[in-house]
Amino acid sequence: MEFYLKNKHYALIFLSFSIFYNCKNEEKTPIEPTQEKVVYEMYQPSEMAGFMNAMYVYNQQLKAQIVAGETPNSMPLDLLKLHSAEMTNGKSRTKNWQSFVNVFIESQEAIADTLSNTDLKERFNTAITNCLNCHKTECTGPIPKIKKLLIQ
Ligand code: HEC
Repeated sequence: MEFYLKNKHYALIFLSFSIFYNCKNEEKTPIEPTQEKVVYEMYQPSEMAGFMNAMYVYNQQLKAQIVAGETPNSMPLDLLKLHSAEMTNGKSRTKNWQSFVNVFIESQEAIADTLSNTDLKERFNTAITNCLNCHKTECTGPIPKIKKLLIQ
């Protein structure tokens, strides 16, 4: 961590990313009070937080593809990690988590199901809505960010 703090520029970049994504911080939370803690969390995200960010980036790419009229036909993420990945200290798989996780996995896989009769955009928005449904109780910080994934 000291290494990163030596370089203010990097520290700032990490900070802005953490503010973006962290569970507890809404997008506009001021940086000052928890500066060191936030840098630390970004430097060592939990396995689950890392996987969530990978899902976020993957869905950004999917959205771009769908908007461009392309049809995604593979789903490269190992979604079973949701059942096994280690979570940030203090977080666990709650009853709410359990009730949302499989519905989400099915809806994420359905996007790349080329045999589906359901409109592609609708399938994509259903998956993103399922991200949001779980986040409403389990991790509210990234909600504004995730909402932007929805295709209007
Ligand atoms: C079943 C519940 C659930 C679903 C579904 C879910 N999330 Fe999460 N998400 C969580 C929890 C809990 C955390 C906190 C994990 C931790 O800190 O270890 C989290 C964390 C995150 C984070 C913050 C990671 C960080 O750096 O702290 C982002 C971004 C995120 N999720 C995006 C998404 C997106 C995008 C989807 C859908 C593609 C999604 N999530 C689906 C429960 C869920």
